[in-house]
Amino acid sequence: MIGDKKVLFSGMQATGNLTLGNYLGALKNWIDLADEYECFYSVVDLHSITIRQDPAELRRRARSLLTLYIAAGLDPEKNCIYYQSHVSGHAELAWILNCFTYMGELNRMTQFKDKAAKHADNINAGLYTYPVLMAADILLYQADVVPVGKDQLQHLEITRDIAQRFNNIYGDVFTIPEAYVGKVGAKIMSLQDPSKKMSKSDENPNGSIYLMDDPDTIIRKFKRAVTDSEACVRYSEEQPGIRNLIDIYCVCTGKTPAEVEKEFDGKGYGDFKLAVGEAVVSVLKPIHSRFDELTKDKAYIDSIIKKNAEKAEYYALKTLRKVQKKVGFPERIR
Ligand code: TRP
Repeated sequence: MIGDKKVLFSGMQATGNLTLGNYLGALKNWIDLADEYECFYSVVDLHSITIRQDPAELRRRARSLLTLYIAAGLDPEKNCIYYQSHVSGHAELAWILNCFTYMGELNRMTQFKDKAAKHADNINAGLYTYPVLMAADILLYQADVVPVGKDQLQHLEITRDIAQRFNNIYGDVFTIPEAYVGKVGAKIMSLQDPSKKMSKSDENPNGSIYLMDDPDTIIRKFKRAVTDSEACVRYSEEQPGIRNLIDIYCVCTGKTPAEVEKEFDGKGYGDFKLAVGEAVVSVLKPIHSRFDELTKDKAYIDSIIKKNAEKAEYYALKTLRKVQKKVGFPERIR
C-alpha cells in the first residue's frame, strides 16, 4: 500500500511495436486505474539485454515506448512511468533473490526454453535468471497487483513462491502479488489469422495494426483482412474474421454488434472493411499528434523521466534497505 492505495506494477519491453491489440486490450483500460491504484510502469531495459540489442536502437525504442504510453493517455503525473535501469535497486534485489531461487524452479520456465531455442547462439545466464529480475521488479514496489498476459503467469507464480519463501524465513517483508484481473479489454485477433491473437511479434506485418502505422497503411491492412465467403456482416462463431472486425469497430465507435449488423445490412465486405479502417484511424489520430508534440518537447519528457525515476527510487530503496538488513548486510555509516 502507498497511502490508502494498492500498488500496481507492470513492466514493458521496448522490443517490437505496440499493436492495436495491446492498446484496446490493455493500455486503454489502464488510464483510469491511477484513481484506484498507485501505478508503476517500467520500461524494462535490463530485461531487454538478455537478447543482443543494438545500443542506439534500444535507447531510441525505450524512449519512444515511454513517450507512446504518455501519448496514449497515461498521465505521467499520476503514473510512475520510468526506466528500470535508472533505479539500481532492481539489479541489487535481483541478486539477493537469486540466492533464494532454485535452479529446479528456473528449469521449468517455458519462456526460457522457448527463448533458448530461438537464440541458441546466446543462451546467457541473464536469460535464465530473467524471472528472478522480474520478481525483483514486482517485489521492490510491494506490488499488490500485476496486469500480465497468459505468457507471463508462470513468472508471476515464481515471484509469489520466492516472496513466500523469503517471508517464511525473515517475516513479512514482501507483499504477495496477484494477477490483476480487471475489466477485460477487447481481445483483438490477427487480421490475417483470426484464430491467433494480434501480436507484436507476428512475422506477417499485415496481421497486426501497429499504433504508429500511418492512416494509409491502416486502411490497406484492413482492406486485406481475412474474411470469408458468406458475404454478410454478421457477428457469429462461424465468421471469426468478420467477428474480429466487428469487435474492433465496436470498441472504436462505442456501438454494439447488433447495431453494426444493422448498419451494414445488405452492404459488402469492402464497405465494412473501409469503415473499420477509418474508425481505427480516427482513434489513433490524436495519439499520433500527441506523440509528435511530446517527441518535440524534449525538455518535458526529460523532466518526467527524472521526476519519475526519483519517485520509483524512493519506494525501491525503502524495500531494498529492509531486505539488506534482513539478510545480514551491515548498515552503511553516513
Ligand atoms: N517479462 C515481461 C514481458 O515480457 C515484462 C516484465 C518485466 C514485467 N518485469 C515485469 C511484467 C514485471 C510485469 C511485471 O512482458
